[in-house]
Amino acid sequence: MNRPLADIIRQRYSCRAYRATPLEAGARRHLEDILAENTVGPLGTRCRFALLAASPHDAQALRGLGTYGFVKGATAFLVGVAGSGRRNLEDYGYLMERAVLEATDLGLGTCWLGGTFSRSRFAQRIRPGVGEVMPAVVAAGYPLERAHDPIRAHAGSSRRLSAGELFWSERPGVPLPPGVAGSYAHILELVRWAPSASNKQPWRLIGTEGAWHFHLKRQKGYGKGSLLFALTRIADLPRVDLGIAMCHFELAAREAGLSGRWALLNSEPLTPDASLEYTVTWLCS
Ligand SMILES: Cc1cc2nc3c(=O)[nH]c(=O)nc-3n(C[C@H](O)[C@H](O)[C@H](O)COP(=O)(O)O)c2cc1C
Repeated sequence: MNRPLADIIRQRYSCRAYRATPLEAGARRHLEDILAENTVGPLGTRCRFALLAASPHDAQALRGLGTYGFVKGATAFLVGVAGSGRRNLEDYGYLMERAVLEATDLGLGTCWLGGTFSRSRFAQRIRPGVGEVMPAVVAAGYPLERAHDPIRAHAGSSRRLSAGELFWSERPGVPLPPGVAGSYAHILELVRWAPSASNKQPWRLIGTEGAWHFHLKRQKGYGKGSLLFALTRIADLPRVDLGIAMCHFELAAREAGLSGRWALLNSEPLTPDASLEYTVTWLCS
């Protein structure tokens, strides 16, 4: 990416109105290249992605790809599928968010869609194979309102939970004492601004000596176990959200020169807490 990650993350917002202009050829090629490289997630799931884009010569390219009126005029969609695997939805979220941030860097607006998209029409384009799932897609294009001010859109912290509600020290609910997050404070801030389905922000990170343990805090009536989940074919989106947070975390850590790797610990690293689901650990090195 050409700019500091913090600038790109602050620029990104869920854009739901686009100009009719098709993607420039250079932007299109760049995104296609990024998506072609997105083949294996950090937790080992095979995924594949494609760019569906309108072009001046093919006005029909996006025909039938509906968003139930939630998004107007998208000139492209990023679509993909994840193979089977214990952490396949997290891997999908991670890889797709990497493409979202690249698209943002190219000046494109984007909007993740996990509920409001015509699933079967999109599936016809990417053709999920046996064992593959298509958890969400991303609408993209040039934002309609050039005057749209992302800083204003993100003004105040009212649209995100506070750091103290999301990031803890040693045990759930214990905020990181001032200064303890140290060089990670900036990284956690970039996780805080990650997009999430219905802005639920289900990620909870617990820092211990040399490790960050990522947990999911599920909300009643949403995701696995909920009625909505049982009645619709909506994916377990909080897990996709967690993968998005992993993406922000790792890119920010690497940019800051802090190395580490992902590990799926066999047993829960901390005393289990009924309100949290352990997902993955970042081992600092
Ligand atoms: C996995 C996922 C699924 C989402 N699904 C939808 C959707 O179906 N329809 C929609 O309008 N927005 C959807 N969103 C966008 C969120 O509502 C949005 O990211 C959140 O409210 C935070 O706002 P922001 O992206 O502008 O920072 C989704 C976001 C994520 C991460």
